[in-house]
Parts: sequence; structure tokens; C-alpha cells
Amino acid sequence: MFQSVGIAGDVQPGTMRTYDVGGTKVAVAATAGDLYAFDDTCTHMGCSLARGTLDGTTVTCACHGSQFDVTSGAVLRGPAARPVRVRSVQVSGDELSIET
Ligand code: FES
Repeated sequence: MFQSVGIAGDVQPGTMRTYDVGGTKVAVAATAGDLYAFDDTCTHMGCSLARGTLDGTTVTCACHGSQFDVTSGAVLRGPAARPVRVRSVQVSGDELSIET
């Protein structure tokens, strides 16, 4: 199932925004041309990944520097050891929907 969360164009390339998806904070990262959604909570100690930095498809947590691949959720650099959950994104017209 998907939940409509807003306007796709609100996430500018190179930036991230968070949305509430069924009670879970989900981050959406916009790369050059694509949108990727993943749980916002860092698997290390729970910081918001959307408050970190986005470089291409790599998000770096602002707290202790863990890095994740936004396309797969995989850990690219610790101290985090577990991946973040990624979610499918649908864009219909201007409407942005995220997998629940
Ligand atoms: S909480 Fe993200 S690296 Fe520690």
C-alpha cells in the first residue's frame, strides 16, 4: 500500500525531507532525477538522517558519521551496522506517495 504525502516537487534535487508514513518518520531524498524513501531513524543511535547530508545517493548521519546508500538502505560506513529500510516511491502527476 502507498500513502500520499505531498507534492513531489517539494523535494529539491540534493535535498531531503521527512514525512509521516503510518506513524513512522520517513525521509525522501532527491537525487538528480530520482526520489528515494527510507526510514529516517539512523540504525546506530536514532538520529534523523534527513538532518544529515546528501551527496549523490549517499546520506551521512550528522551524529556520528554513518553512511547509507539511499537506493538500497545498505550501510556504507559505520558505526551503524544495520541497514535502514527503504520504501518504494510513486509519483503520479505531482503527487508523491510512499510505500507504507
Ligand atoms: S546516530 Fe547516526 S551515526 Fe550515530
